Amino acid sequence: MEAYRTDWLDLSYQPMLPRNRDMGIGIVGAGEIVQAAHLPAYQIAGFRVVGIYDVKIEQAQSVAKQFSLPTVFPSLDALLDRDDIDIVDIAIPSQYLLAVVEQVVSRRKHVLCQKPLAEAYDTALRIVTVCREAGVKAAINQQMRWSPGIRASHTVIDRGWLGDLTQALIQVNVLTPWDNWPWMTSLPAMELLYHSIHYMDAMRLLYGMPEYIYADAAKFPGQKWEAPTRTLIHIKFPGECRGMIHDNHNNFAPEDDWYATFRFEGTRGVIKGTNGALYNYPVGKEDTIAYLSKDIAGDTWISPRLEGRWFPHAFMGTMGELMRAIEEDREPENSVEDNLKTLQMVFAAKRSIEENRPVWLKEIGG
Ligand SMILES: NC(=O)c1ccc[n+]([C@@H]2O[C@H](COP(=O)([O-])OP(=O)(O)OC[C@H]3O[C@@H](n4cnc5c(N)ncnc54)[C@H](O)[C@@H]3O)[C@@H](O)[C@H]2O)c1
Repeated sequence: MEAYRTDWLDLSYQPMLPRNRDMGIGIVGAGEIVQAAHLPAYQIAGFRVVGIYDVKIEQAQSVAKQFSLPTVFPSLDALLDRDDIDIVDIAIPSQYLLAVVEQVVSRRKHVLCQKPLAEAYDTALRIVTVCREAGVKAAINQQMRWSPGIRASHTVIDRGWLGDLTQALIQVNVLTPWDNWPWMTSLPAMELLYHSIHYMDAMRLLYGMPEYIYADAAKFPGQKWEAPTRTLIHIKFPGECRGMIHDNHNNFAPEDDWYATFRFEGTRGVIKGTNGALYNYPVGKEDTIAYLSKDIAGDTWISPRLEGRWFPHAFMGTMGELMRAIEEDREPENSVEDNLKTLQMVFAAKRSIEENRPVWLKEIGG
């Protein structure tokens, strides 16, 4: 076997940042994800946060103090009045998103919206339309695409090292504290809309658009939430390619038993890895990846060490890509318009569960 080539280990998975990091960001929502991921990531990236607004002013004040943000805005209008804010970064429950986006884009600010874009496909479509009509750049914070393991897998697949893609598997078996998000627990599709959406978006990035989805969901006996917390999603890609997402959020065994793994296979190679963010909760670990390709190193597994995590580092990817799109005057990879395809997957899975049948993606929206 020839010696390791540098490109076998250098999978160029790190988020790409804009040349100008001085664009002003105004944040709407001062909740858990802004504190745990947005602001830590922006500090690492050196992005400039001008200030923050939350309907609960004390919440915004406390976060501003914690992260030394210059301004707490008393209203959304006050934030939008600031000329030095170029991008409004919205991280509020998605049921309120459309109204906020309408107000933001009417003032011609670019937007980064937290996922899910909406709890119904038509509402997401409306958000895409108002952003397009306003002529602003609009992106979604679907950051798993920039998690080290998924981006590195993207590079391996892009270089053709797996051959023709044959199957994809994402498995998660953890204990999730749904009570942290009380506004979510009454939604029938809580798991799909707020968690598995990440895996569907990651799989679409790597494997393209599926044809149909057949999904099933169940509760854990005695659980207190209305929504299922176990999901099984069978994904039919064109030809012979298949995908599977299997989530259980009720693992009562000690944490050393929890796992969050992925495996991507083709005719010439295999990638296997772990999603470190779901280990050692809530601190997390680095992602891992190992890949084998008949075309480059025979049966030898190649295991580059990955740095960074889904939380918070991948949040540099979503904001960084929006900023680069603004700089280069092009659509961001994570545009809200592109995200409609991920939502087609999510709502196909939802309908499949409701009707107990495979649902073609073309049945959703369009
Ligand atoms: N990308 C990810 O991995 C990820 C992870 C967690 C949460 N999220 C998303 O982020 C969003 C927020 O989640 P969270 O966990 O921070 O929730 P949270 O409940 O901790 O915080 C939400 C905050 O939004 C504020 N808010 C609500 N409506 C508002 C409005 N109209 N204007 C201003 N502030 C408003 C609330 O007062 C609250 O402080 C959700 O859409 C969720 O899906 C994404």
